[in-house]
Amino acid sequence: MAEPRLAVRRKSRSSSELKRSRAPVQPVAASSPVVRKRPSSAGEGPPAEVLCSNDSEEDMFGDYDSFYGNDSLIAQVDNIDHRYLQDKNMDVKAAGEIVLGNFQSGVHQKEQDNFFASQNVVVLNSDKEGGACQMRDSDTADGNQKLTESVLDDLPLSQLLYFEKMDELSSTSRTFPLSKGRDERVNSFSDKIRDPLSFYTGVEHRNRPIDSSSQSKCVLFKSESLKDHLKSAMTGNARAQTLQVSKTKQLKEAVLSEEIFVARKAIESSSLDIGPFYGLPRKVKDLFRQLRGIETLYEWQHDCLMLESLQQRKNLIYSLPTGGGKTLVAEIIILQELLCRQKDVLMILPYVAIVQEKVRGLSSFGIELGFLVEEYAGSKGRFPPIKRRVKKSLYIATIEKGHALVNSLIETERINDLGLVVVDELHMLGAGSRGAVLEITLAKILYISKKTQIIGMSATLNNVGDLQKFLQAEYYTNNFRPVELKEYIKIRDTIYAVDSKTQNGFAFSRLLNFKYSSNLEKADPDHIVALVTEVIPKYSCLIFCPTKKNCENVASMVCKYLKKEFRAHKGKEKQDLIKNLKGIGNGTVCPLLKQTIPFGIAYHHSGLTNDERKSIEEAYSAGVLCLLACTATLAAGVNLPARRVILRAPYVGNDFLKKNQYKQMTGRAGRAGIDSAGESILIVQEKDKHLVQDLVHSPLENCYSNLLLELTKGIQSLLLSLVGLKIAVTHEEVDNFMCCTLLGIQQQLLSKEKSLSEIIKDGLENLIEKGLLKGRITEKDHNSKSALTITPLGKATYKGSIDLAYCNILYRELKKGLEGLVLESNLHLLYLSTPYDMTSTCSPDWMIYLRQFNQLSAAEQKVADIVGVPESFITKKASGQAVRRNVDNAVVNRFYLTFVLYSLLKETNIWSVSEKFNLSRGYVQNLLNSAASFASCLLHFCEELEEFWVYKALLIELTKHLTYCVKTELIPLMEVAGVLEARAKQLYNAGYKTLAHLANANPETLVGMIEHLSRHQAKQIISSAKMLLSEKAEALQEEVEELLKVPTDIPGTR
Ligand SMILES: Nc1ncnc2c1ncn2[C@@H]1O[C@H](COP(=O)(O)OP(=O)(O)OP(=O)(O)O)[C@@H](O)[C@H]1O
Ligand SMILES: [Mg+2]
Repeated sequence: MAEPRLAVRRKSRSSSELKRSRAPVQPVAASSPVVRKRPSSAGEGPPAEVLCSNDSEEDMFGDYDSFYGNDSLIAQVDNIDHRYLQDKNMDVKAAGEIVLGNFQSGVHQKEQDNFFASQNVVVLNSDKEGGACQMRDSDTADGNQKLTESVLDDLPLSQLLYFEKMDELSSTSRTFPLSKGRDERVNSFSDKIRDPLSFYTGVEHRNRPIDSSSQSKCVLFKSESLKDHLKSAMTGNARAQTLQVSKTKQLKEAVLSEEIFVARKAIESSSLDIGPFYGLPRKVKDLFRQLRGIETLYEWQHDCLMLESLQQRKNLIYSLPTGGGKTLVAEIIILQELLCRQKDVLMILPYVAIVQEKVRGLSSFGIELGFLVEEYAGSKGRFPPIKRRVKKSLYIATIEKGHALVNSLIETERINDLGLVVVDELHMLGAGSRGAVLEITLAKILYISKKTQIIGMSATLNNVGDLQKFLQAEYYTNNFRPVELKEYIKIRDTIYAVDSKTQNGFAFSRLLNFKYSSNLEKADPDHIVALVTEVIPKYSCLIFCPTKKNCENVASMVCKYLKKEFRAHKGKEKQDLIKNLKGIGNGTVCPLLKQTIPFGIAYHHSGLTNDERKSIEEAYSAGVLCLLACTATLAAGVNLPARRVILRAPYVGNDFLKKNQYKQMTGRAGRAGIDSAGESILIVQEKDKHLVQDLVHSPLENCYSNLLLELTKGIQSLLLSLVGLKIAVTHEEVDNFMCCTLLGIQQQLLSKEKSLSEIIKDGLENLIEKGLLKGRITEKDHNSKSALTITPLGKATYKGSIDLAYCNILYRELKKGLEGLVLESNLHLLYLSTPYDMTSTCSPDWMIYLRQFNQLSAAEQKVADIVGVPESFITKKASGQAVRRNVDNAVVNRFYLTFVLYSLLKETNIWSVSEKFNLSRGYVQNLLNSAASFASCLLHFCEELEEFWVYKALLIELTKHLTYCVKTELIPLMEVAGVLEARAKQLYNAGYKTLAHLANANPETLVGMIEHLSRHQAKQIISSAKMLLSEKAEALQEEVEELLKVPTDIPGTR
């Protein structure tokens, strides 16, 4: 079988532009960019939205070829053995040198030669020649490849590992004299597991004493016939308890481990030479090909991976246009860290849905390569994470959860386990409170864990100099975009190309060709129908609209004027989609979608549930839908195909479009592997022409620190946790720390009136006043060494990631609850778990309020009184009377949201609840997700305050309920990343009732049994389930090991 080739396509080398230590760019203004308001306020402002997207995991799960039909395993082994035995007579030392030395010099030199030998295509292959070790590498890899084509892709890795461990334990116990004690057995066993060669040594020496020195492992490996090793491994397997385990799987893992070991050595040598695939096992290359359909690396990707700064593990920022393929580079660096450097990795992504997508996409890599993928989003994730003894973990986290994770690692003095932090969409540093949290996270890592490498990427960076200083990072940039993007604007019926060379920035391109009736002209003055019918249904099109309402209007209007023939295109699939949406909506489909989908059109915004959005995205990706009218929510990191992107107007909500937003939206057009061309058209009214000229030709917005703007979530929260985590406890130390933040770098721009030191002093004093810190800050004490300490309330606040604006009130409310928590139902507890920051987005319907109140039991009505919502207030409001009583509106609104949550938990039906409260179902779902997240924060808050011990048990259950607001039986299925309620129901009804059912499912059977499930999705679900099962099993195994470990300090045993 021909060796699959992963090649780097080289264009002219000069096209890549490497800028190191780029001079800082002067920010254009001291304050944030001016926000231009829309003249009319017809639209609704977009609320905080949870984005739903398909990240870059396309073209996954190509077929694995069958193992059958190839040479028999033994024949292959013979072959490997034969070549391997050529080395047999080498002395041990020389063999050892070859293992490392040849790999570094001969092999890599050869590979580098290969790289630069060909002008157009560079093959990343290291076989054929190059000495014994290389041959071994090549052969084992060859064998590995065939083994990859496994007969049995049956058991999850956790189970295999478990069987293997059992097997090893039994053989170890046969080997060790009993007097050696249990601890030695456990330790030697875990040593073996930790050692990448353990699969070899483990299987080889089942029946012989184990020599734990790594050198001797190498010696043993080199001095015996490989066939003997494998045979003895097989015999061992046959004798042990692992009868169900696929032998090929074990061999496969053995070969992989060997490759990882060699790759690790290559990396440790810090030579510029590379391993089979950027220092990684050959299998990684195969996986990218099989799972992503990536055959070749772009030239810039190769250049970037070969950067000297990366080899030296320096921090790096890289920036390329949207769709440039940034993710792949990050993923290769992540795998190097996990497999070769054996360190954990944190990957920070901006939104929950993107985290889930990434967990699904990388789970299969984790299963094949033997690392764990752990989800940190919403209420998922453990703090601190479980300390894994064997496998390394890739934590995929939202910004908020990433921060909490880093805090927990610092607190438990495990931050050095984190070898690498990757931040996607680094420009988020400038995005409000989330930007502040990201800055805090990175600043802490930079300050406290110098060895943790930080990599940030983005398509929309401007003031890179500031960011470089902050992250102490090198910078790489390139203008490469695999699919060319042509930008246009449309004014009246003329299309202009965006062209910076012309005087006014636009060059006439063409007149729009359309024939409009007077009716259509009235309904569609901006000629949207004409613009879309130029591309659909053959190609796909996205229309970004300023508001949610506008999305719906556009979708409805366009389908009214489309010819009937549009209905015929993929008619059956469209009906299936409607049926699917009906299933999601418990029998109801949004009437508008029902009307538009037959034409291949849908709207997409945060008013839809996550399930609906996902279905619509999938149908769009599959070409069933060809036009989506969407809000900006679809613009971040999404990989949906669009030949043409239309921007309905240069506004988002009421605000004039920012350059970053413009770039992100237009960047959706023409994505690699999906489209061969891409164009964007911005619809402009004459009056906005000049603003649009500025927009398209202005540089991207600068990224500014938000620590000051977001006071309570920003600088105050940072100061509190600095003391709490003992990162900096004196005023002087805090000053030093703050100089290293982005705020420290931009302080002169961002704070004209006060120096940074004064700001810090005010902040610390404020925290003391609030009772969160203890100590004294006076002028005299400035620069003194007097240490500040954190109070229990302060600790609870930062550990629960509670916004400082609410920590005192939260404490009071919980305290009050201790005096009389109404436990007749969970209403009171739900009120305490209702997120404070959503109250401003809600305006109660008083009639509904009253109706809900009247349905409460007498005990529940008491809750209203306790929290401060008198019945008379609601009654008067409902009857339109003036209310004189002084009632806190925030509490009243919050209690209204509690009613929504209460109904949700009772009915577990978002649709009926949203109807009951006249709220969009997307909003209701967002509330539910926020409440789940807040409840888990509350739990961490209460855990730190002894007086609140009683809340702990209650909140654990409540968090679970809120996280999976579904029938209990669906919960195990919904734990799998990205399995939402509708899918869980389908799976459950088809008989897949547990995680183990899913992890061991056959993809083909799954596809056959579950409607609207593609093979690609089925495989992703199975991989994620396998990963979760593996993670759970590992955790239990580690717990067992911990339990069985004999302490070394038992009195009298020394
Ligand atoms: N070497 C490659 N060969 C073929 N396709 C590739 C290659 N590298 C990346 N791609 C594909 O290109 C598409 C876009 O890549 P990716 O999502 O990484 O872009 P990005 O730079 O992160 O863009 P954005 O800034 O919009 O997030 C993906 O479908 C990805 O699989
Ligand atoms: Mg990206």
